[in-house]
Amino acid sequence: MVVIRGATTIPEDSKEEIRKAVAELLGQITSCNHILKDEITSIVFSSTSDIHSYYPSKAAREAGFEGVALFSAQEPEIDGSLPLCIRVMLFVEKNLTPRHIYLRGAKILRRDITNIYNVAIDGPAGSGKSTVAKILAADYSILYLDTGAMYRACALAALENGVDVSDERAVIDLMRSVSLDVRYENGIQKTLLNGRDVSDEIRRPEISMAASTVSKHPSVRLHLVDKQREIASVNSCVLDGRDIGTYVLPDAAFKFFLTASPEVRAKRRYDELVAKGHEVDFQALKEEIIRRDEQDSRRKMAPLRRAEDAVVIDTSNMTIDEVVSFIKKTMQEKI
Ligand code: DC
Repeated sequence: MVVIRGATTIPEDSKEEIRKAVAELLGQITSCNHILKDEITSIVFSSTSDIHSYYPSKAAREAGFEGVALFSAQEPEIDGSLPLCIRVMLFVEKNLTPRHIYLRGAKILRRDITNIYNVAIDGPAGSGKSTVAKILAADYSILYLDTGAMYRACALAALENGVDVSDERAVIDLMRSVSLDVRYENGIQKTLLNGRDVSDEIRRPEISMAASTVSKHPSVRLHLVDKQREIASVNSCVLDGRDIGTYVLPDAAFKFFLTASPEVRAKRRYDELVAKGHEVDFQALKEEIIRRDEQDSRRKMAPLRRAEDAVVIDTSNMTIDEVVSFIKKTMQEKI
């Protein structure tokens, strides 16, 4: 028997909000823990004393948790407690390492349940995510997981094997037949395709758009997200990407969303590529970045989007040091 915990908040005390929040919370818990409804023995809810409109257990029943023993209780009024908060405990008949899920600003009230923590850094291309994530990971002595590298490796595999990157079936069949691994050497991420270190090749400019295209395919995302969650469940890490705070780790302890104007982002990418010896046309690069962001934001599954509880940082006029200091200060205040 495993116990999974979770919590969420509602914007107002209404039946509709309670139903929505309970369905979302249970949905995230079951998908992040890969559990089926009939593997759950019972679910116990508690809600803060400012919630009166509906029983969370009734909302759970309506969300399809029918054969499960359900129970709701109201917590006593406690000074300083998070308002409009619903907490849950699921008892599951399965052998797994539980992922506890905290949504919509609900705090992890018991730090003792896990000492692994994750920092999610999302944002569009060139917003400074990877530079900042690398520094944070080094300063906190935790892993840096560059999730974009996985989509890039997938695009590289497709291009090398003559597979059309827009053909979902062909791309996922290919991904299931190759091995894609992430290894760390002296704290630096190496991306391996069939054992070959492709960390440099995946940075080639033509890989960027192809990576964005393969990342639209739900089956490809699920394949890679599983790997990302697996790494993050056993290691504290800083992860950068597009959907870390919204989809990969909605329960990440810390979430940031970095942005910058398209001009600034294109200039950063341009300088990076020129420094590596690539010949680049600035205007074409800027247009490509805008097109890629649009494609990443418009896809159906887990698009580029800020999580509601992520702290937004516009890095257009900030130095790397300023961004890092701001993030550290924000994390410190939250602990
Ligand atoms: O961060 P990057 O430029 O290396 O990412 C390349 C592409 O991969 C990006 O355009 C969209 C996709 N990607 C994604 O869909 N989700 C992530 N978590 C990371 C990257």
